[in-house]
Amino acid sequence: MAMAAHGASASNGPVHYDAQTHVFRIDAKGVSYVFGVNPNGQLQSIYWGSRLGFTDSFPQPHALPGWAAFDPSVNTTPQEFTGWGGGLYTTPDLKITFPDGNRDLVLHYVSHQIDGDRLTVTMQDIERKVFVVLDYKIDEATGILRRSATIENRTGKPFTIEQSFAATWNLPAAGDYHLYDLTGRWTGEWDLQQQALHPGKIVLESRRGPTSHANNPWFAIERGASADQDQGQVWFGALGWSGNWQIAVEQTQARQVRVTGGFNPFDFGYVLAPGESLKTPYFYAGYTRNGVGGASRLLHRFEIAEILPHHPHPGLRPVVYDSWEATGFQVNEAGQEALAEKAASIGVERFIMDDGWFGQRKDDHAGLGDWYPNPQKFPHGLGPLIAKVHSLGMSFGLWVEPEMVNPNSDLYRKHPDWVLHFNGRPRSQERNQLVLNLARPDVKAYVFHTLDSLLTNNRIDFLKWDYNRNWSEPGWPSAGADHEKEVYVKYTRNLYSILQELRARHPHVEIEDCSGGGGRVDLGILRYTDEVWTSDNTDPFDRLSIQNGFTYAYSPGVMMAWVTDSPNWVNQRVTSLTYRFLSSMQGALGIGANLNQWTPQEFVQARTLVAQYKSIRATVQRGALYRLISPLHGSEHSATEYVAPDGKQVAVFAFLHSSQMGYPYPELYLRGLEPGATYRLHMLDGKAAPETPSNASGAYWTNVGIQLALRGDFQAAAFTLEREP
Ligand code: GLA
Repeated sequence: MAMAAHGASASNGPVHYDAQTHVFRIDAKGVSYVFGVNPNGQLQSIYWGSRLGFTDSFPQPHALPGWAAFDPSVNTTPQEFTGWGGGLYTTPDLKITFPDGNRDLVLHYVSHQIDGDRLTVTMQDIERKVFVVLDYKIDEATGILRRSATIENRTGKPFTIEQSFAATWNLPAAGDYHLYDLTGRWTGEWDLQQQALHPGKIVLESRRGPTSHANNPWFAIERGASADQDQGQVWFGALGWSGNWQIAVEQTQARQVRVTGGFNPFDFGYVLAPGESLKTPYFYAGYTRNGVGGASRLLHRFEIAEILPHHPHPGLRPVVYDSWEATGFQVNEAGQEALAEKAASIGVERFIMDDGWFGQRKDDHAGLGDWYPNPQKFPHGLGPLIAKVHSLGMSFGLWVEPEMVNPNSDLYRKHPDWVLHFNGRPRSQERNQLVLNLARPDVKAYVFHTLDSLLTNNRIDFLKWDYNRNWSEPGWPSAGADHEKEVYVKYTRNLYSILQELRARHPHVEIEDCSGGGGRVDLGILRYTDEVWTSDNTDPFDRLSIQNGFTYAYSPGVMMAWVTDSPNWVNQRVTSLTYRFLSSMQGALGIGANLNQWTPQEFVQARTLVAQYKSIRATVQRGALYRLISPLHGSEHSATEYVAPDGKQVAVFAFLHSSQMGYPYPELYLRGLEPGATYRLHMLDGKAAPETPSNASGAYWTNVGIQLALRGDFQAAAFTLEREP
């Protein structure tokens, strides 16, 4: 039941408002989030941390005093959402230029509404009819809050929004914080960084068009230097936006920490006509006392329960085969059918034909934009190959890159104005391609109809949706100079809308999000895509740290990992088939090797490993991930553990880079077990040290641990523990 503002004192749900003190309290299983309206009308942040007692209450907050004449109170008072105005020097959430030249914006509380797990708070400028509706929604199981802001223009005249964040999160003032974030580049994504916070501002962002490999819109801030995966206070969050984004982590000179995120203000400009509104992306954030490991486990649960398509029960990822590393652009009917037969023989469940099947595509110089089967390679269309794949008991997937065009294509020859560009300026190509301007309604319609008819006319079960360059010259001349910068918002919104509509019209089709590997992964695109191509880097050793970084923010259940050939093309590293499989089995397993070159023995081995994976797949994709030994900082060892949601199965993977000086592999002390329960050990690959019991209590595996007999270079082992009934 919706509850009107002023006077309501409580609700039965997780959101409470105390009408006497003007304090809002949002509770979840382990978390309380508290803020209130102070006598100045500001929305003052009060508390965000472990769950409080039911009867605990707070007095009405009062704005903090300023610091002499140089830091007015508006800067020292932690607030939920600020406009730039009234002497604000910290990062404003909203900045507007009005047509009369005024750029001062001071937002005050007007009213609120509580509706189940949602709270909306309306603010208004002290003088103008600019309204901002803040939206809060709590996930009771994980305590993760979802926030956004909607800016409404009721002034009667257009104005320009120059900066529009979704939310500001305030942490307790302290000087002992560390920030974790994820940086990277093509074939080197998901590089976990850690740095101390100091007064000043750290800007995490993309100015590249898409989310980017360079920085991912995720953060975690740990209090104290516990360096413990599973203990310590951590505030963490992620943005749901696949275009230019920014998360600013600012520590004021008074040591308050504020995290502000949303649209990147760089080159931003959005004209809001009278009566129009602009909604920001969602900014999700949570809190835990269980360290960065606990933070990622909460995020994984949240993504599965609240974000992914078909949540709260998204399907498990099938074992896939993808043709890219085997055939490159040289795909054809006979070649793909031969690979499909071999893939099916080892237990693969989905066959994906990658790049090269369409238009005049021989290499990366031509074809993007022309989404019909190449008549030389597929003289009878895709039908025969798809039928063959289905007859082998596999689903069929197809690679597309629908937002791009090669200048050498029918589409570009017909519509050269459809790409991002500035009139009279060069159009910089990357990988010989340009970016279609999806913000244009005609381009949006073309992309939708092309994919819709591809899916309608062919029995396709899966799309690998690629995106192989960043933006340059992001102009949109036909929009008119005042509106060109809206491309950043409208492009991404149209992308989401195409994905949403395609899913609605073809509900059985699954989609993988890919951008030259992991260049567009975020909680926005994950609402419309079932899985992610983690990185083009398929070196199984590099993958240990890439996958480690990925799982800080995203679930192993969406993390595609292929077994490819050895030596691997990235580092020319030679590894065994078992090592490659175990590296990939920590996420959603795929095969990308050239099966035409495998020996009969490799097929036998692969069949066994695929079957092993299927026996632990649900645990890996849905379980609680514990990082037993980190692969970072040149570690010789690394190990991960997954505990099934019902606690009955535990799967562990261990990797050795190189033995040195005869030292044994370190004991693995397992986590997340019931101390009093008995677990039976089952080695999948590799051996445990002699004398290792086959049955022992949770307390034993946690405290005595397990010693693996791993020796040599690039060795790997895997085992399960099954809880006895
Ligand atoms: C990108 C993808 C690869 C492959 C190629 C095809 O790089 O990440 O997996 O699909 O494009 O051109």
